Amino acid sequence: MVRPATAVTSAVLFFVHASAVITLPPGANTGQNLLPNIDDPNAVNAQTACPGYTATNMQTSNHGMTATLSLAGDACNAYGTDVDSLDLTVEYQANDRLNIELVPSHIDSTNSSWYILPETLVPKPQSEQANADDSDLKFTWSNKPSFNFKVTRRSTGDVLFNTEGTVIVFENQFIELVSSLPEDYNLYGLGERMHGLRLGNNFTATTYTADNPDPLDVNIYGFHPFYLDTRYYEVDGDGSYTYVPADTADASKNYVSRSHGVFLRNAHGQEVLLRPDNITWRTIGGSLDLYFYAGPSQAEVTSNYQASTIGLPAMQQYWTFGYHQSNWDWPNWDTLEQVVANFSMYAIPLETMWSDIDYMDQYRNFQNDPVNYPYDQGADFIDSLHQNGMQYVPIVDPIIYYPNPNGDTADYAPYDRGTEANVWLTNPGGSVYIGAGWPGYTVYPDWHHPNTSAWWLNELALWGQSIKFDGIWIDMNEVSSSCVGSCGSAYVTQDAEHEARDFEVAADATSTASYLVTTPTPGVRDINYPPYVINHVQPGHDLAVGAVSPNATHIDGVQEYDVHNLYAYQETNGTYQALTQIIPGKRPFILSRSTFAGSGKWAAHWGGDNIADWLHMYLSIPQALSFSLYGIPMFGVDTCGFEGNTDEELCNRWMMLSAFFPFYRNHNCIGSIPQEPYQWTTVTQASKFIMGIRYALLPYMYTLFHDAHTTGSTVMRALAWEFPDDPSLAAVDRQFLLGPSLMIIPVLDQGATSVDGVFPGIAQGEIWYDYYMQTEMAVEAGVNTTLDTPLGHIQLFIRGGSVLPMQQPALVTRDVRNSPWSLLVALSGNGTAKGSLYVDDGESIVQNATLSVDFKANTTDTETGSASSSLYASVSGDFQDTNALGNVTILGVSSVGNVTFNGNAVGSDSIAYNEESKVLIVNGLLDLTQSGAWDQDWVLSW
Ligand code: GLC
Repeated sequence: MVRPATAVTSAVLFFVHASAVITLPPGANTGQNLLPNIDDPNAVNAQTACPGYTATNMQTSNHGMTATLSLAGDACNAYGTDVDSLDLTVEYQANDRLNIELVPSHIDSTNSSWYILPETLVPKPQSEQANADDSDLKFTWSNKPSFNFKVTRRSTGDVLFNTEGTVIVFENQFIELVSSLPEDYNLYGLGERMHGLRLGNNFTATTYTADNPDPLDVNIYGFHPFYLDTRYYEVDGDGSYTYVPADTADASKNYVSRSHGVFLRNAHGQEVLLRPDNITWRTIGGSLDLYFYAGPSQAEVTSNYQASTIGLPAMQQYWTFGYHQSNWDWPNWDTLEQVVANFSMYAIPLETMWSDIDYMDQYRNFQNDPVNYPYDQGADFIDSLHQNGMQYVPIVDPIIYYPNPNGDTADYAPYDRGTEANVWLTNPGGSVYIGAGWPGYTVYPDWHHPNTSAWWLNELALWGQSIKFDGIWIDMNEVSSSCVGSCGSAYVTQDAEHEARDFEVAADATSTASYLVTTPTPGVRDINYPPYVINHVQPGHDLAVGAVSPNATHIDGVQEYDVHNLYAYQETNGTYQALTQIIPGKRPFILSRSTFAGSGKWAAHWGGDNIADWLHMYLSIPQALSFSLYGIPMFGVDTCGFEGNTDEELCNRWMMLSAFFPFYRNHNCIGSIPQEPYQWTTVTQASKFIMGIRYALLPYMYTLFHDAHTTGSTVMRALAWEFPDDPSLAAVDRQFLLGPSLMIIPVLDQGATSVDGVFPGIAQGEIWYDYYMQTEMAVEAGVNTTLDTPLGHIQLFIRGGSVLPMQQPALVTRDVRNSPWSLLVALSGNGTAKGSLYVDDGESIVQNATLSVDFKANTTDTETGSASSSLYASVSGDFQDTNALGNVTILGVSSVGNVTFNGNAVGSDSIAYNEESKVLIVNGLLDLTQSGAWDQDWVLSW
């Protein structure tokens, strides 16, 4: 919500709604001026100041070990109070997962100095209690000169994590752990931030959820303390392996890669210092609860991280993969009706209409503006969407209007009911915490309170009786507030009219002349100004700016300081549970701005308030790929850009790029020029063209998504993950794969009419087909190939060896689901291909019946070795799909004999074969598959 218009040094300017009247007192969103530790030349170096620990009382079992760690010298109290005794637990949880946990030995529940993340908030993975000897991860330790440990990969001896030569610092407000890393390491993750996919070797990753419009390299909305570490090794002639920095790789040599993952189960503000030969992990509280995932492939790391630890991503309804149109500046239902009419007039697919805060009555949740968004008109509008196969998703914020007790606007039932149920966050003394947001002064649901979920469900359900939404968009849940502290406590009665609905408040100038410095007091925590200052993105680096302050208090006495990063996670869970009751039986669709490790089990995520520029369009790719690693595959960004004005060329390119992201939505900021695809002729054409392809490929996308939901595989993939033995791909993030089979190379530069791309795997015999020409690309290994790509075109390639299930494009996904099937088979260099299809009812949480089809093509009889070209479909499951098979297109066919389908000859007029392009198209299958393409196994031979 707080958005800088330009970068200025002395003050930050903010975009303000034209009609807004700022009613907050000046300076209300100004915090203290703090100097981030990483910028402070006088900052204490905990590594030299602190004594570290000595391990005693070591107990070893088959599954791990325990020990006591005692402070090895005088407390340094660098950024808090040193903990004199720690309990160490090392557990081989599975053969490919190791847990190392360090917690204070004496946790005194009456001593508020500690906050150890409870399993009720963030569950721990279930341990399978593997035997140490069977695990591919090996823990070793030493007390010289103080306690340090190593994690190695047993099968290869690679040292994955090594704290030797460093001290462990464990204080009540500061924890530091340092590990050496190999030269030019490749680390990915540690989000959320706008950054290239590979993090780099001289970078500080600060994480603390923040409402900030996608500035580069700093902390933004989400919190994911996880990294993937990929290492490349040269395979020497004698079969030995030598580690190589990815950038020094030479295409003529042979390499392999091995990946592992590391997750720190800790929810406090964090800062990770990536330096040329080490990683320093710092948090401002909690404990060290570290998980190592052995891989050794990225796919294994990612799937293990999700399946064992954070949860597999929610399955989405089929319609959520259609095209979504949103805008923050549609003044009334009439405008939404007009937008739908325009899509229809231009015959552009439109699946879902969204409502931003414009619909609200004075920006109050759960209430429609009676003049511009009356319920009766809304009901008719949503009805007509539903009848036409479309959906409606409105926004709901966690900022709840606090009625002025002296004003005439006190009639706000959702607030009254929440107050009755006592569900608001409070100040330390027990009074209600009153911050500020769109509606004026605001209160915040306390998700630790046992009544909050029921109150939230009730409000959504009551409002949902009038507004039949199909999903909910939850925003501002970092959780954002436009003033520091409980600012409303002092001012709320003075703001009699509450005229200003737009609290776009400048975080006022913070002078650099003086900084507030906090010196730790032994035994006491300073949660407002923690002694260690993370490089938090907000002005002054004060944790209280732009957010509910660290001292806001939950019903169980827990303060925001300890759980700030979990606010959205809990709200998402609450919303998920509510939707299962309001729309019974259907998979909840939730779009959340803020996320935590594991949010994907309930929600989708969009990239937040990006800028309508070319840089942000490019950054959407690494942002999406990072969310693949975090288990939130339902990801997309504000296509065409949110802040600022887009333009025809940018919007054209962006509509085409986003068509290959699982979540495909165009959303725009108030005050920007309109950017629905029909605003420009060329964008209309490009969008229709690319949506035709996206919608035809929906069965492939849905199958991929179901795989992700059941196994923790990824949907959008980095080239490095699919081609793990090619170090030159380690940082590639300007092109990507959708599943294993499709590669997208978008134009990302203004004015460009061509794009350079690499074709991975060529040296190993991989072949790539141009999606449009259906012919094999004549490209060289390891060479950037320049591809002509005029406006209105996007490069799309099919990987040889793939079978893509498809249906016919339509204006809504409902009609795609009811159209004939087709298959696109792209043969590999060996004449083989495989693929799969998953079908269900597209909406139910629990499916009565599902259908899976495996496809396999061979051009050589595996037993006799003779030429025998066939495509086999093996069907399992009982879901009834009655759509027939329209056609099969096979790419890379060198010769055609008798074409038969399950032994029945296919008439020659149904067959088209082009010897030059090597494309075989088999039509005429509709009659042969009248009762459904998948009602039996079949074989197509040619
Ligand atoms: C926030 C959201 C944005 C939305 C706006 C108004 O800035 O990130 O998507 O349009 O609030 O609700």
